[in-house]
Amino acid sequence: MTTVLVTGGAGFVGAHICKALAARGDRPVVFDNLSAGHEHAVRWGPLVRGDIRSAPDLDRAFAEHRPDAVIHFAANIEVGEGQRLPLRFWDNNVAGVVSLLAAMERAGVAPLVFSSTCAVYGEPDSVPITESESLKPVSVYGRTKLAVEQLLADVASVGGVRYAALRYFNAAGASPDGEIGEEHDPETHLIPNALKAAAGIGGRMKLFGTDYDTRDGTCIRDYVHVMDLADAHLAALDLLLSGTRALTANLGTGHGASVLEVLRAVESVTGLAPPYDVHPRRDGDAPILSADLTHARAVLGFEPKRSDIETIITDAWRFHKRAWGV
Ligand code: UFG
Repeated sequence: MTTVLVTGGAGFVGAHICKALAARGDRPVVFDNLSAGHEHAVRWGPLVRGDIRSAPDLDRAFAEHRPDAVIHFAANIEVGEGQRLPLRFWDNNVAGVVSLLAAMERAGVAPLVFSSTCAVYGEPDSVPITESESLKPVSVYGRTKLAVEQLLADVASVGGVRYAALRYFNAAGASPDGEIGEEHDPETHLIPNALKAAAGIGGRMKLFGTDYDTRDGTCIRDYVHVMDLADAHLAALDLLLSGTRALTANLGTGHGASVLEVLRAVESVTGLAPPYDVHPRRDGDAPILSADLTHARAVLGFEPKRSDIETIITDAWRFHKRAWGV
């Protein structure tokens, strides 16, 4: 049995990875300050309440639970917030990882799976995006995630950490049994917002931009089911535990859905048309983002199983119906 310290394990993607770890007999220990995560999403192992920027908090968790590896999710993720509060993002997302790596070194733990993002590419020169695309993030959020990738490469070059940087495209969906799902506050992501509007909660959805150079004028994104992400994390963890020193991989599906296609899929799954108003473009939204999966397939054996848009929305809806009592 492998014990894994999961920072940010009370959040959306983190909680699903904890569930997947437990399902195969591993032991997730959640380390979370609950600033964005939810205590009710910690169900498959102990919760250590702590902050990644606190050496004493981390040392306590390593001493008490003796993890074999770390999966790191704890971070600020809302792109607009990062533009307003850059210092907060650099402190939590970057200084937090310096603190985490130092604690791992003190504890003699080397394997680290890092939750990175397609935001490191910014507006890519071509899609689908390969890992060798130039890295030109256009947001504070993307720059902090890229800085951590560079930090990991530097520390790994002297043998201090073995890492996997997983660049997610649009994480979505929910556990198919409806047990856990996406619960951001405020919610900025398209699928939960479209489901909210369909359910008649919180008014009409805002659709940001219908004048992009895409097949229907709205942005195209590569939505990937959180359970498929979980499989990739387990595969990355196993590689690091068996000695792989560094890997970086995109996680998406290789194709995308436009905002209008997502809204149509929400209507077909729920039977309810989400009401929406067209608003101007949102700052920093690239027209099309989708992942080239060649590398993830080769190194992680990654093959999305639940990431067609209908399955993603069906699973998300099952969770939200229960959570919202609709
Ligand atoms: N959108 C709307 N209305 C909404 C929410 C979103 O029209 O209420 C549109 C956006 O403008 C965008 C698309 O739906 O065109 C997807 O938006 P999301 O906010 O769901 O996702 P993003 O692609 O903006 O964000 C994702 C990750 C971020 C990451 C970013 C990098 O969630 O963590 O990709 O591009 F930083």
